[in-house]
Amino acid sequence: MNILTLETTCDETAAAVVTDRLEVLSSVVASQEKLHEKFGGVVPEIASRAHVERILPVIDEALQRANLDLDELDAVAVANTPGLAGSLLVGLMAAKALCLARGLPLVAVNHMQAHIYACRLAAGEDVFPCVGLIVSGGHTSLYRCESPLDFELLGGTIDDAAGEAFDKVASMLGLPFPGGPAIERTARGGNGKTFRFPRPFLADAGRLEFSFSGLKTAVRYQIANLLQKPGAELSPQQTADLAASFQEAVVDCLAGKALLALEQAKLSILCVGGGVAANSRLRERLELDAASRRFKLVIPPLRLCTDNAVMGAIAVERLQRGYLEPLDLDVFPGLIRR
Ligand code: KG4
Ligand code: ZN
Repeated sequence: MNILTLETTCDETAAAVVTDRLEVLSSVVASQEKLHEKFGGVVPEIASRAHVERILPVIDEALQRANLDLDELDAVAVANTPGLAGSLLVGLMAAKALCLARGLPLVAVNHMQAHIYACRLAAGEDVFPCVGLIVSGGHTSLYRCESPLDFELLGGTIDDAAGEAFDKVASMLGLPFPGGPAIERTARGGNGKTFRFPRPFLADAGRLEFSFSGLKTAVRYQIANLLQKPGAELSPQQTADLAASFQEAVVDCLAGKALLALEQAKLSILCVGGGVAANSRLRERLELDAASRRFKLVIPPLRLCTDNAVMGAIAVERLQRGYLEPLDLDVFPGLIRR
């Protein structure tokens, strides 16, 4: 079977063609990074308009690269939850139109489950049951993943997502959007122990939660403290130390709670997905923890961590179980807990 998968949950317009044997025939991602750069974050209305402009060319490109015609497709899959409502609608409407016109079955994809399925694809073998940590610009959540389609939310952020904190702190430090890669680069020249930023809930073994808004504020106060003299500017070293200290605090919280989740869920596989999983300091820390605590760590390569349509191959699991959707399928922007 050839399955066209669409992904428009946030600010990447993506399409891929995958087979029921999990082969990837093509993958196209049109990033909107440049459009949102000057705002220091994703602007929902700009994102949905850009999806409208790009979705058809992206689908055409995915089919062309896979060397397939529309009539060689067997199903269309689309991420319809969670995400930005306007963005989700563009992908869903495109998928429905194709299904209606060609008489194809429609498959719904849960974007969070798809992020963890990217780990299954990268591992090339079963990774379930596992703890799933999804860290992106919009999410910071821990799941107990019993199977590809059976998730239970264990905990998450009570305010900002980790990626959002990276983006906002980068903007405070005068670094470009997206902030994650910029902070990571800048932090390489800094000392992560220079400033002691808060690590909310880290010492509380009863809570599988994160909070990053206080950390953001702590960085803001620290910057103000360093810039007390009128006209003062952060030196490159101060900027690097701030970036490194902030990154250490985030990594401590993410790694600490992921370990706690493994312990509480009594599981020995940790799968990590989302844009922040690209962070090399986080990877390094989790690799050390995996070696010392003897759990298996799966983090996909970068192109499968950030939003993409290949992870929509989770549609194969739904097709195998006969889970098809009617053409009045809706979008669900919020997080579904189970
Ligand atoms: O998963 P993603 O591509 O999009 C969604 O938010 O759904 O994640 C984007 C987020 C941004 O906040 C970006 O700053 C962050 O991932 N990010 C990183 C790194 N690369 C991307 N954060 C930390 N370190 C990185 N290397
Ligand atoms: Zn995502």
